[in-house]
Amino acid sequence: MTALVIFESMFGNNRKLAEAVAQGIAPQRPATVVEVGSAPTSVDATVTLLVVGGPTHGFGMTRPNTRRDAAKQAAGALVSTGIGVREWLEAASVPAGIAAAAWDTRVERPAFLKLIDRSAEGMAKGLKRLGCHLVVPPQHFAVQGVQGPLGPNELERARRWGEQLAQAALGN
Ligand SMILES: Cc1cc2nc3c(=O)[nH]c(=O)nc-3n(C[C@H](O)[C@H](O)[C@H](O)COP(=O)(O)O)c2cc1C
Repeated sequence: MTALVIFESMFGNNRKLAEAVAQGIAPQRPATVVEVGSAPTSVDATVTLLVVGGPTHGFGMTRPNTRRDAAKQAAGALVSTGIGVREWLEAASVPAGIAAAAWDTRVERPAFLKLIDRSAEGMAKGLKRLGCHLVVPPQHFAVQGVQGPLGPNELERARRWGEQLAQAALGN
């Protein structure tokens, strides 16, 4: 019974969130955090809870062209330099019926625009296609600009969300 937390991140915000989510899960079960480019495409049978997260680019999950745009804007080196969550979900196989959850980050902006930002919803759809059982609705965390930082209190909110989803996955 272990948890695998897979993140994608250009500027580092989702890496921090992934660590916070894993901290929230850890009292319930061991949790490993892996950058998506290093994540196994065949998820081990010991994994019973899978959590994926990453940025919103162009209202959805990143694509090769949006990642190139991010690279042009980055002050330093990008965290994720290979595939994104979208490509991982297309290639992965996971143990049947495992518990899962998805999060994304998006820039704080007017409510009507939030309705069309659907990165985590896309991830949730991909997880369902893989046969996962979503234990909580897709979650969103705020960044204050394209490169961050995270909104105030978002790391604590991520830790609590990790706790809640691990609780919801009890029995898996
Ligand atoms: C090419 C590109 C497109 C983006 N499109 C959106 C968008 O549609 N909606 C949004 O809220 N944020 C958008 N952003 C901002 C990202 O959400 C932000 O960079 C990300 O959440 C930061 O997380 P990271 O540091 O883990 O990459 C975009 C950023 C880039 C580089």
